This record gives sequence, C-alpha cells and structure tokens, in this order.
Amino acid sequence: MFNILFGFPALRVIASAPGKITLFGEHAIVYGYPAIVSSIDRRVYVRAEARSDNEVKIYAKDLRIPGVIVTYRHGEVIVETDYGKTLSAIAYIEKALEITSRYLGTRKGVNLEVTSEMPVGAGLGTSAAVSVATIAAYAKVLGHELSKEEIARLGWQVEKEVQGIASPMDTSITSYGGFLKIVGKGGKYEISKVRVDESLPFVIGYVEREATTKDLVNKVKELRERYGAIIDEIMRVIGEVTLRAEKALINNDLVTLGELMNINHGLLDALGVSNRKLNELVYAARNAGALGSKLTGAGGGGCVIALTPGKQEEVEVAMKLYATLTLKTRLGVEGVKVLVERP
Ligand code: MEV
Repeated sequence: MFNILFGFPALRVIASAPGKITLFGEHAIVYGYPAIVSSIDRRVYVRAEARSDNEVKIYAKDLRIPGVIVTYRHGEVIVETDYGKTLSAIAYIEKALEITSRYLGTRKGVNLEVTSEMPVGAGLGTSAAVSVATIAAYAKVLGHELSKEEIARLGWQVEKEVQGIASPMDTSITSYGGFLKIVGKGGKYEISKVRVDESLPFVIGYVEREATTKDLVNKVKELRERYGAIIDEIMRVIGEVTLRAEKALINNDLVTLGELMNINHGLLDALGVSNRKLNELVYAARNAGALGSKLTGAGGGGCVIALTPGKQEEVEVAMKLYATLTLKTRLGVEGVKVLVERP
C-alpha cells in the first residue's frame, strides 16, 4: 500500500513476543522467595502499518480464549479474568499505544493486526506479550527502536495501568526471553538472567480454572494465619527448591530439574492450591515418561507443565485425556522481536 501523502510505501512492521510459564516459586514469591520464569515458543504477533490519518484500527484475529467469561457489549469483547476485574484484550493494546506515544512524544494513526499462537487467559502471559509486542511495533512505526529495557518498563506500566496491580514478571520475561529469576521485596523487584544453554522441551496441559489468582493467594494467606510456622517452612523449602533448580538449569541437569518440579508440585498441593484435575494431569504426564511435572501459576486449575525430553508425543497424548487443551513447546526462546516487512 502507498502512503497517499508522500507517495512511498507505508512502513509495515511485525513485532512478536513469547508467552511464559512459571517454572518454580509461585506463591512463595509473595512471601519474598525467588521464582524462576521462562519464555515459551508460542508467540503473540502484532502487525502494524502507519495510516495517513490519525485513526487507530485494531484487528484482533485468532485470540482464542478458553475457560474465561466473554461478554460482547456495544461491539466490544469484554474478558473476565483474574483479580476480579473485567478486562478487555483491547484495553492492553490501547494502553500500550497511549503509553508509547506519551514516552516518545509523538503519535500516528495505525492499523494493528493481532494474532496469538496460544490461548488467551490460560495463564501463559498473553496480556503481557500483547502489550510488549504492541509497544515495539508502534514505536518502530513512529521511527524509534526501543531497547528491551525500555519495552519491559513500558510494558509493566501498561499492565499496572490496566489491572491496577501487576508484578514485572510477565512483561520482563516476554521482553527479554530466556529464563529469569525474580525476587520481590516490598513492591520492588530484582530480576536476573538465568543462563541456560539449551532450550528445554515441555508439554503444557490446560484445564478450566475454578478460582482466581486473588482467591488462591488469599487461601494461602488464611492457611498461614492458622498454621504459621508450618506454612512459613513450606515457603522456605520452596525457596530452597527454586535455588537448587536454578543450579540444575545452569548445569543442564534435567533429571534433577524434573525431581525438583515434582517436589515443588507436592509443596503447592500441601498449600491447597492444586486440585483433582491438575493432579490427574501431573500424574498422567509422569506415568507417560515426563522427567517432572507440576502446576504452574496460581493453581485452582489452569496449566500443568511437564519436562519431556524425548517423550513429547507420548506425554502429550497422555495429558490430552485430562486436559481441555495441550501444547508442545520449548522453553527459553528469544524475547520481543521486530521485523520490517517490505510491502
Ligand atoms: C500467579 O501467577 C503467581 C502467584 O505467585 C501470585 C503472584 O505472584 O502475584 C500465585
């Protein structure tokens, strides 16, 4: 397509950003212990093309949404998700455009086309991936190449403004890719890279969630109020498991990594955040040859991850019996990327 004003082809760019899983340390991170997150090789793509007017058009194609309430109102898609808030997938895109314009001090009309290789609302970090890919694509259309640090910071800002509350976990991993260790201290976070040579084969199984993240975080808090030192000890042990897992990842010791995943799952079950469906998936994966499996994220349904070197097909087939959907994936892939498409 030609730019009507200047007579040369309009710039068309495509940015992509990966989804994520929490490998170790969910829930314990709320109590100051580290968590390890990884990117997965399922991406969100945002194609952006400058317009000659000031309008913004968003084509949200193929955003599959399992297990969440979707309402159509005045032509808008409203998605009910965690933290009891009503969120729209579009809200992240609009906020990302607004924050990028504000940061760069300029704006332009743009056509955006958003597609996703993974289900939205399944706990795989799609809202962060959408935000980050939109920021990167729009900045490029505005003539700027942002650093990953800038994109991660602006992405976190988008999540905070849309959700009211957000840790930088999802926006950091989708920006930087790879594996990250994150420790939260009084609302401040330390984020460091975990250097892993190989990308790791995993299968992810998804089942509908029965409770929100907020409910589950509260459930653990109440358990701690009743059992104090016992729950504190479980959190401390999860922290220890996470630090050992960091070493196993760096040494590419997959057998230890799998065993630590199993231990972490047992501890999460002890905290009351697993359920029958998640446990069925966890055991289906192990019985089919996974080196380790655990729930990932807040629990109460959602995703189970299984480490499956040489056994991806067998483990996926076994998990399919219990899961609403399954994905084969590799961990530790590249973060946000921008390509200029020649029209
Ligand atoms: C949810 O993905 C992870 C939790 O640790 C909550 C949080 O870190 O905010 C359960």
